[in-house]
Amino acid sequence: MTPANKVRQQFFAEFKEEAAFIVRAPGRVNLIGEHTDYNDGFVFPMAIDRATWIALRPRDDNKVFAISIDMDDRRDFALDDLRRPAEVDWLAYLTGVAWSLRERGYALRGWEGVVSGDVPIGSGLSSSAALELAAARAFQCVSGFEWDAAEMALACQRAENNWLGVNCGIMDQMISAAGIEDRALLIDCRSLETSTAPLPAGAAVVILDTGTRRGLVDSEYNERRAQCEAAARHFGIAALRDIDLETFERRVHELDPLMRKRARHVISENERTLQAREVMDAGDAAALGKLMIESHISLRDDFEVSSAALDAIVDCANAEAACYGARMTGAGFGGCAVALVEADEAGAFSEQVAANYQAATGNQPALYVSKASRGAETVFAAG
Ligand code: GLA
Repeated sequence: MTPANKVRQQFFAEFKEEAAFIVRAPGRVNLIGEHTDYNDGFVFPMAIDRATWIALRPRDDNKVFAISIDMDDRRDFALDDLRRPAEVDWLAYLTGVAWSLRERGYALRGWEGVVSGDVPIGSGLSSSAALELAAARAFQCVSGFEWDAAEMALACQRAENNWLGVNCGIMDQMISAAGIEDRALLIDCRSLETSTAPLPAGAAVVILDTGTRRGLVDSEYNERRAQCEAAARHFGIAALRDIDLETFERRVHELDPLMRKRARHVISENERTLQAREVMDAGDAAALGKLMIESHISLRDDFEVSSAALDAIVDCANAEAACYGARMTGAGFGGCAVALVEADEAGAFSEQVAANYQAATGNQPALYVSKASRGAETVFAAG
């Protein structure tokens, strides 16, 4: 059963009437532009056809009562008594979004409803952002404020940063809020301006989940951020976004070897991401694939956020004739890679890569062909 039907049916079973609203917010896969968002740079993700769904109705008091089908849990909280959870669980995302919206001055009403989704949790496809944006949509439906995608993305990012203690950039929340069907979204992470590009005709996006997760990702992520900020400080600029590759190469000797590699990744990745826009506009799948391959090499060798499993699945993908190019996607250290492949061959490609990767590593992968979907939305509103 789809999560949309699950939340609808469970809502009816629980509350003995149809839901007043049904909302959804998608996960994402990033095509190119990795570890650039917190450097005020460019990212090029698409929202995927997997999402978190909530069926709900307003309440007259100040409470939120939510049932998570996937966590087999039911919990409530009061909007005027928001407590930071001792440990991050699914409810913490709801209390965090409520806290952040209230901080930004939104008057919130309570609601009750049922939550479920099919974004795999912890695999690097932004199940957290999907839950946050779905919660923001739920609050918007019952409270009646205006929906501004960038503003909602910022509110949800703040919940991650300041309520859940995760130091992420803006990419995941922004694409979950603002995704466009059949399009990838180029996001300027400084201005939050967006523009769209279609995938090249005849090309499909395949997500390759290595089946591996790595716990240390948070500390490694924070360390990379600090290194990037230190490099920007050295050059006297606000962020690594503000230096081009040519100037950087001229001054590269000023940095120690490690900082050199970190900065080179970010600066070259920004250039690749802007080039990706041009080749997508030209419908050039081969050129886009080439940029993705270069991105992976840079993430692997300069930024050092890949892993043996990610390298293995990317190599298996790139070895197939139908593959234009593959790279790790998201924060790294495990989780997923993404490949651009000939659409007609996507099924056969997925089977072959899954078999070869499993034989090479012993890990059980999961591969899905994915379409670009719309960002957070209200799919049903009664009356
Ligand atoms: C995670 C973060 C994003 C971004 C990516 C790396 O997904 O949540 O903000 O920094 O890593 O590109």
